[in-house]
Amino acid sequence: MSKSGGQLAADQNTFTGFDAESVRADFPVLNQQVHGKPLVYLDSAASSQKPLHVINAVSRYYENDHSNVHRGVHSLSARATFAYERARGKAHVFLNSKNIREIIYVRGTTEAINLVAQTYGRANVGEGDEILISEMEHHSNIVPWQMLCEWTGAKLVVAPIDERGQLDMTAFAEKLSERTKIVGIVHVSNALGTVNPVAEITKMAHDAGAVVVVDGAQAAPHLRVDVQEIGCDFYAFSGHKAYAPTGIGILYGREELLEAMPPWQGGGEMILSVSFDSTTYNELPYKFEAGTPNIAGAIGLGEAIDYMGRFNHEALERHEHDLVAYGYDALATVPGLTIVGTAEGKVGVHSFTLDGIHAHDIGTILDNEGIAVRTGHHCAQPVMHHFGVPATARASFGIYNTRDDIDRLVEGLGQVRKLMG
Ligand code: ALA
Repeated sequence: MSKSGGQLAADQNTFTGFDAESVRADFPVLNQQVHGKPLVYLDSAASSQKPLHVINAVSRYYENDHSNVHRGVHSLSARATFAYERARGKAHVFLNSKNIREIIYVRGTTEAINLVAQTYGRANVGEGDEILISEMEHHSNIVPWQMLCEWTGAKLVVAPIDERGQLDMTAFAEKLSERTKIVGIVHVSNALGTVNPVAEITKMAHDAGAVVVVDGAQAAPHLRVDVQEIGCDFYAFSGHKAYAPTGIGILYGREELLEAMPPWQGGGEMILSVSFDSTTYNELPYKFEAGTPNIAGAIGLGEAIDYMGRFNHEALERHEHDLVAYGYDALATVPGLTIVGTAEGKVGVHSFTLDGIHAHDIGTILDNEGIAVRTGHHCAQPVMHHFGVPATARASFGIYNTRDDIDRLVEGLGQVRKLMG
């Protein structure tokens, strides 16, 4: 690493056509010192940082427009409702859903998958049926299905991954059968970065008569997502990993399925009329949105979608692939380091172990160097089990990361080696 940070950034921009250095200015949180060193934030897969555009939109909303939505005739309620629904429109365009009625606000991916399991699942899955997932799922796409199996007597079936962390498509095909009622599949693995061929998987699942739920939590910030092109029945993502606030996310569902599904939570917003004898449920998407929603979060999500849309997507993807490629070369120089997850075309993360050093020690020493990585099982214990490790350290990338950040990581790992022997 003999080049200066400035020269590296210039090389990178020339190569990718994406100027991450100038993007960094949009993220005020990055401009700080941690333990006396400039912060290097490599934990965007856990939660991304927020650009000023999003921070200001949320703050403007509270300063000027806040009121409850769909409930008042007064001007503030009308403005809040307009902004909230406009953000839904942005999510509709972002995912390219056929109809805006298919876009349901949720707290995040976890809530979205629980919603599907508890409504579609309870109504359509019974004893002897199977739910097929993959070995690379994180807990949010495992536990809701296990709970559904407990309630219904269905069986959870798991398709294995190979030594690179890629789905074994032959085994997946073999495990699909007329008993499979739901396929739950992650678009991009949070622990490994593997990108699954979700359109192909959807086609296979549909041919077998199953519906497909795609966990898009790690895909939305990195890939262009088109639910019609994928063909899936449900697609979930969280705002907070895609530069939006926490506590907001989207569940996309195919309209005819959503129409047929029973509601989930009961309360205000999801009703048309209520008496003590009976309740008439509201139309889509409100049928699934009980209670006062996260209005500011939704507005922040809309702004984050606009923010991502400012960039040329091909250049952004080149930038992110460059970080992964550069990371492979740079991390290879660290003695005793093994990368866990080397799938072809992976995005967004390098998970790794260092011989004889526990991941938590790596994370603690790196933090002392001003470098934030996640350590542990990444809410994907079966993946750790597959690779025979209790935990990994994971450097994950966002729109604002640069080759310079990776160099700082490698230097920090040098310090880890020095201190831990
Ligand atoms: N699933 C999130 C992560 O990967 C929390 O860190």
